[in-house]
Amino acid sequence: MPVRIADDAAIDEAGRLIREGHLVAFPTETVYGLGADATNSRAVASIFEAKGRPRFNPLIVHVPHIAAAERIAVLTPAARRLAQSFWPGPLTLVLKRRPEAGLSDLVSAGLDTVAVRVPAQPVAQALLAAAKRPLAAPSANRSGRVSPTTALHVLEDLDGKAAMILDGGATRHGLESTVVDVADEAHVRLLRPGAIPRAALEALLGAPLLACESDDEMRPVSPGQLASHYAPRAALRLDAQDVRPGEALLSFGPNGPVAPGPSINLSPTGDLAEAAASLFAALRDLDRTGAETIAVVPIPDEGLGEAINDRLRRAAAPRPSSA
Ligand code: TXA
Ligand code: MG
Repeated sequence: MPVRIADDAAIDEAGRLIREGHLVAFPTETVYGLGADATNSRAVASIFEAKGRPRFNPLIVHVPHIAAAERIAVLTPAARRLAQSFWPGPLTLVLKRRPEAGLSDLVSAGLDTVAVRVPAQPVAQALLAAAKRPLAAPSANRSGRVSPTTALHVLEDLDGKAAMILDGGATRHGLESTVVDVADEAHVRLLRPGAIPRAALEALLGAPLLACESDDEMRPVSPGQLASHYAPRAALRLDAQDVRPGEALLSFGPNGPVAPGPSINLSPTGDLAEAAASLFAALRDLDRTGAETIAVVPIPDEGLGEAINDRLRRAAAPRPSSA
C-alpha cells in the first residue's frame, strides 16, 4: 500500500481513489483517519472490514465547511454556535441526519444521528476538495488499538488495507476530536473527551455538558466508549508511584520516579498539550520494548488531562480475549 508524501499529485490521485470507492488513510490535526466516500455503502463497509470494527460503532463524517455539514445534518442553534467557534478544528458534533442527503446508512450504524466534523489540517481539507465527497473516516488503527499519529503507525496496523496512505507528518494534537451530542438542544452531552477541553465548550455554551449515561456495552451511547479501547499490547498500571522490575515507565512532569528500564516522559515540563501530542506514539514505543507492563504516573485531570486520562483508563481496562 503506497505511502505517499501528501503533495498535490498524491492528493489528486487520492481524491480519485475515494471517488472510485477505495480507502485512503490521511492526516487530520488529531489522528490519522481511514477515509472512504460516505455516500458509497460498499466503500464504507470496507472500512469496518479493514479495521475489524463492530458494525454497531458508527463513523465520523468529515466535510469541508459548515455549509456542507448543513446539507447532511440538522444544526441546532447550540450546534451552530459550537461549529462557528470550533470549526475547522478537533470538534465532532452528533446531529440529526438528513435522510435525503445520500449518506450510506452504515455510517450511522442504524442511528438517526450522524457525527460530523470539519478538520483543519490542510491535507485533510485538500483531500475533501479533491474527492468532492463527504469522507467517512474513523481513526486508521485496528479496532480497539491505539490511534495512529504518524503515517508509519497506519502502516503498522493496516498494511495492505488502504489504496494509499497520505503522509502529512505527525499530527498536531495527538488525541481524537472531542465528541459532543448536540442533536437535542436541551441535552447537550459530552460523548468523548478529546482535543478540545470540556471547559472551552462549556464557556461557549454557558452551561455544563451532561455526561453520557449508558455504560451498557451492547447499547453504548457513543460506541467508541467501550471500556477496553486504545489498548497497546502491554498491560497498563495506572497511578504508579514507582517502577517495578520488568516494567516500562510512562511519566509526566519533572518529578517522576526514576526507571532502570525503558521510559518516556510525555512532557518533562508538565505541559498537557505536549503530553497529549506524544501519548499514542509513546504507548507504541514502550510496547515495542517488549515490557509486559507499562507503569503510568498520575496525570492531572484538568484541561486536556481529562481526555488523556480517559484514553489511559481504556488502555488499562480488561480486554476481550480476542483483542
Ligand atoms: O479525531 C477524530 O475524531 C478522528 C479523526 C480521524 O477525525 N476520528 C475518530 O473516529 O476518532 P473514531 O471512529 O475512531 O471515533 C468516532 C467516535 C466513536 O466513539 C463513535 O462511537 C462516535 O464517534 N460516534 C460516531 N457517530 C456517532 C453517533 N451517530 N452517535 C454517537 N456517537 C457516535
Ligand atoms: Mg478510533
